[in-house]
Amino acid sequence: MELKTSYLAKHVRTLQPSGIRKFFDATAGMTGVISLGVGEPDFVTPWNVREAAIVSLEDGYTSYTANAGLPALREEIAKYIENYFCVSYQPESEIIVTVGASEAIDIALRAILDPGDEVLVIEPCFVSYAPLVTLAGGVPVIVQTNRENNFKVTAEELGEALTERTKAIMICSPNNPTGSMLSKDEMEKVAAVAKDNDLLILSDEIYAELVYDELYTSFAALDDMRERTILVSGFSKDLAMTGWRLGFVCAPEEIIGGMLKIHQYAIMCAATMAQYAALEGLKTGRKDVKEMRKSYRQRRNFIVQSLNDMGLACHNPEGAFYTFPCIESTGLSSEEFATRLLQTEKVVVVPGNAFGAGGEGFVRCSYATSMAQLQEAMTRMKRFVDNL
Ligand SMILES: Cc1ncc(COP(=O)(O)O)c(C=O)c1O
Repeated sequence: MELKTSYLAKHVRTLQPSGIRKFFDATAGMTGVISLGVGEPDFVTPWNVREAAIVSLEDGYTSYTANAGLPALREEIAKYIENYFCVSYQPESEIIVTVGASEAIDIALRAILDPGDEVLVIEPCFVSYAPLVTLAGGVPVIVQTNRENNFKVTAEELGEALTERTKAIMICSPNNPTGSMLSKDEMEKVAAVAKDNDLLILSDEIYAELVYDELYTSFAALDDMRERTILVSGFSKDLAMTGWRLGFVCAPEEIIGGMLKIHQYAIMCAATMAQYAALEGLKTGRKDVKEMRKSYRQRRNFIVQSLNDMGLACHNPEGAFYTFPCIESTGLSSEEFATRLLQTEKVVVVPGNAFGAGGEGFVRCSYATSMAQLQEAMTRMKRFVDNL
């Protein structure tokens, strides 16, 4: 019998699939493809981190952990945050270990939003932000940034988007897809908007360790910001642990308490062996992170130079592992550029509009791939641009 109506909720029916996935499907079955499309490290998780997970299994640690995560892991997260970001959090009441930064963002939004509350989402940005606001019953209000300003949001732009329903500002610095990072000064200005208007900052700091030129500052470390910041991070990017699905969130007790209720019912706890792995990563993995950072830095310098040399204007990204060159000079839309580059030269880049309408005119090229692959990709891309 055919069903007359869809069983799907309206807000799910109208949700668009990720623009990144859509584009990747086009590569299925192709050989000789070089991908600058992926948003994950090409490194394998450091061996001692993997070994810690194996040992935890050998020792029989195969049950649930506490809902908020292994106490030892939360303690280590608190120490790490204190050392690197100079902010103190109570491991017992202000930290939850989550299934990736992704879950942390989701439960943060679900914990703070009443129906119709607005969240300022600064585009171009990670694909999940606006959909997760919608799924939490909120309304994403898009604030566009532009190339002239190196994709950094200003207090004025935020001010224009505020209404009395605004509850929070979502910030990702260093940013995916642009790699831009706010300086401390620029962060202070965003923080002032939050303070003046009694808003929360949902700060996605997943790329905090992948910063190449400047010192990193956490939003929670700015004056009077700890109480209104939800600090999201994880192990996917710096420790090359995307597949382990492990992240964490730090916030004042009341907010963490609310988030924990959702986490408890929806997730129970993050995977136990992954938590043991992350514990080892925090204790001993900093030297691996340092090595990976050095390698990304070299690759960034190479790809930025190559893109500019072939006439695709590209600002120097301060962090993460993405470049966001402007392709307007080619006369192609970002989708046309990415599709034709894939068809003719078998190089995958992601159309900028996958990260919001303001990403049109750009493509995202990840440099989380080997130098040899990057060099070959740049040769092919130059040939593609020259032949247009
Ligand atoms: C800005 C940003 N936040 C969060 C995530 C998700 O991270 P996780 O693997 O920890 O869920 C990503 C992954 O690409 C990202 O780029």
